[in-house]
Amino acid sequence: MGHLKQDSKKSVGIDAIAVHVPRLYVDLSGEWAQARAATFSEGDVAQLVGKVKKGVGVEHMAVPDAHEDSATLAAMAAVKAIQNAGIDPKDIGYVAVGTETTVDQSKSIAAYVLGMIERRFNVQMPDVGAPQFQFACIGATYALEAAVNMFRAEEHTKPYALVIATDVSKYPLLTAGEYTQGAGAVAMLVCENPRLLAIDPKTAATVTRDERDFFRPNGLQTAVVDGKYSIDVYLDCMTLAADRYLERARAAFNKPGARIDELASHLLFHVPFPRMAEYAALRILGDAWRKDSRIKDEIVREVPLITDTNIDKDPKARKAYEKQLADSAFFRHFFATTIEPSLTLSRKIGNIYSGSLYLALASLLESTENRASLAGQRIALLSYGSGASARVFSGTFVDPAHAYIPHAATDLKNEQDGGRRVALSVKDYERLHSGPKSEDSTTPGSLLQPAESLRAPKNEFALTRVGAEQSAQKTDTGYRYYEWMK
Ligand code: HMG
Repeated sequence: MGHLKQDSKKSVGIDAIAVHVPRLYVDLSGEWAQARAATFSEGDVAQLVGKVKKGVGVEHMAVPDAHEDSATLAAMAAVKAIQNAGIDPKDIGYVAVGTETTVDQSKSIAAYVLGMIERRFNVQMPDVGAPQFQFACIGATYALEAAVNMFRAEEHTKPYALVIATDVSKYPLLTAGEYTQGAGAVAMLVCENPRLLAIDPKTAATVTRDERDFFRPNGLQTAVVDGKYSIDVYLDCMTLAADRYLERARAAFNKPGARIDELASHLLFHVPFPRMAEYAALRILGDAWRKDSRIKDEIVREVPLITDTNIDKDPKARKAYEKQLADSAFFRHFFATTIEPSLTLSRKIGNIYSGSLYLALASLLESTENRASLAGQRIALLSYGSGASARVFSGTFVDPAHAYIPHAATDLKNEQDGGRRVALSVKDYERLHSGPKSEDSTTPGSLLQPAESLRAPKNEFALTRVGAEQSAQKTDTGYRYYEWMK
């Protein structure tokens, strides 16, 4: 277990965090499974449900309504973070958004979000920086790094920075990516002496390599992915970044030889789907444990393959070892206590791309009954974006009992149970997935008016129209108009 070591310098990190997800969702064990079994499991509905729920680890996926996009989701999360933290929006000097599903090819989505925040709180915030960070799912981590470093360099002009991760994950229907979609945003307020999580200095490690595992060429609405290969690239990059992190962290914390699970009480992963966190834990800890005689001797009785000397050379030997380890009581207990609490939201929401790692943080806070018990504990955050880059860093909880009021769980309650969630029929889901339709197929989707909402927007930001004027007086073709809907 890692504990907070007080540094004489000011700490910098996350003061407050808030999650926003669309109210619409697809229940992957309902009508969707009936409709897709012919494609995915030769008509066997139970087999498909078992695979999606157990094998992949998702139960529901959030789907945006026609008036929602990455900008409205981001603004909603931002408003919640500002309100939860009880701060004045004028105290924010930097709004950085990480997204890979932006709404414009040129304009920073952060500028749209800023406009919505200004209108919602009836304030002017002209003196802020508002960049967009893009690198698949790791974009928000780069945004967080920039915000944290701004405070460390004492270049900030206001007490807070706002970092938002927002995305709508979309794969073509009837492909294996379909059940790993989702949508949502996570907003984080960054400042000095944060109440939630102090980010450890001089420990983060980043690796990048030019890869083709997942990308979205200009003009395409859905991602191109080589599913199994993307898992391999994730594991390779993450392992490398975790090794580099460990080298720096051991030195920074003066803990030579410590393993990552000794430095951190919880490991939070980028979660494209919950089983991925298990694959990554098996790879990273499986390697750490078999190379450390202090723990290897404890595991060997249950996992004799831990002594196999071919693991590094032979992928089959590695697979067999990781399978045996996965089935062991030792690993199951470790996973249940150290990683599972960070996966509960993702099982109900799906992949929210750049926000997935931060959804894991919110999830850990939501599912820890006694949040005060987390104070002083160090967590490792393992971020990944396809294409491909991984960054591993860590942080230490300060006062998680008071700093954060989780809301996502109540947002995930169904309407008939007093929540705001609405299950989608397959027909409505497919209509929303295809986006607005044009009479002539030459008009790009971004110039079309939003389609009719399934549920009229209420107490939320909505995309109300897309500009269509091109005259001597005014040009706004394709500009997106967002309004707060009472
Ligand atoms: P698939 O073909 O659906 O899955 O692809 P599978 O056939 O490999 O089965 C998955 C697991 O389910 C297996 O478990 C099966 O045995 C098990 P394992 O052998 O691995 O332990 N299974 C069952 N379990 C229980 N009951 C059953 C049953 N049937 C089978 N009845 C895949 C899965 C994830 C590849 C696919 O959904 C996909 O392509 N998804 C999109 C890509 C993706 O998410 N990649 C992740 C890594 S890349 C990343 O994280 C970046 C990303 O977020 C984007 C970004 O950075 O911007 C994606």
